[in-house]
Amino acid sequence: MAAAVSAFLALPEDNKSDTVKLDAEVLLLACIDKTRTYIFTWPEKKLSQEQQKRFFEMVQRRKLGEPIAHIVGFREFWSLPLEVNAQTLIPRPDTETLVEQVLALEITNDISLLDLGTGTGAIALAIASEYPNWNITGCDRIQAAIELAERNRQRLNNDNQFSKVQFIKSNWFSALKNKKYDVIVSNPPYIEPNDPHLNQGDVCFEPLSALVAQDDGMADLKHIIMQARSHLNENGVLLLEHGYNQSQQVSDFLIQMSYKGIKTFTDLSGNDRITVSQFGTE
Ligand SMILES: C[S@@+](CC[C@H](N)C(=O)[O-])C[C@H]1O[C@@H](n2cnc3c(N)ncnc32)[C@H](O)[C@@H]1O
Repeated sequence: MAAAVSAFLALPEDNKSDTVKLDAEVLLLACIDKTRTYIFTWPEKKLSQEQQKRFFEMVQRRKLGEPIAHIVGFREFWSLPLEVNAQTLIPRPDTETLVEQVLALEITNDISLLDLGTGTGAIALAIASEYPNWNITGCDRIQAAIELAERNRQRLNNDNQFSKVQFIKSNWFSALKNKKYDVIVSNPPYIEPNDPHLNQGDVCFEPLSALVAQDDGMADLKHIIMQARSHLNENGVLLLEHGYNQSQQVSDFLIQMSYKGIKTFTDLSGNDRITVSQFGTE
């Protein structure tokens, strides 16, 4: 088993990711379907021919830059194993900050929540894992993302913890006419079309529909801020993920659209990432 990891480590420098050893371990674990402890407890165990073949196929894909999450088909978010694919974003640890801010609202009654641009369903399912009695709707414009989110919901729903979550296809609020929610959350596309990061690393393998927005990355954020006013119950809360350098623009636009109690929170790297606000007519 150690030999397989060593082979991966022996890749030429220009084929290595920044996390070569971890990548090798994750691929190996996916191949043998065991926990991390297993490979350290039994380093002398040999891979079967079938496992070796599968491992080296995975290594080839990684050498071409494909994200580990796409190769193994899963990524953990809020400790939930989520199926991922190339139709939407691979959930990021920074987005867990948004979930934390929903928890920080300390809502004690059972409310309705909308997750706009749900992708894998990561945010909706993470919140449902904490509040199984909330009525949670996740929407996405991409049909394949809705199907993916629903598969994730069904796979996790053994003890019915996720039975109050539904996913629907909608271009932002288009299929939600006259619907109102106590809380709306979104991690929309917010990268500007010319951002050089779009050509680097895992992002190259993710769809532009999940990443890019016009107007310097602000178009979808602004659309959601504007439209959410007629989809929030009185004093409902809007939580938005945005780029590290967009908090001022987001806050300014929220003020312009008469939101109040605007606060920005930082992600795991200390960058401004989540802005929370409330909308009420009083
Ligand atoms: C940045 S990804 C976020 C995915 C997921 N919520 C997460 O945090 O991992 C943005 C998502 O918004 C969806 N999206 C983009 N434009 C949309 C629109 N007009 N209406 C609904 N969803 C949209 C994309 O398909 C994508 O799944």
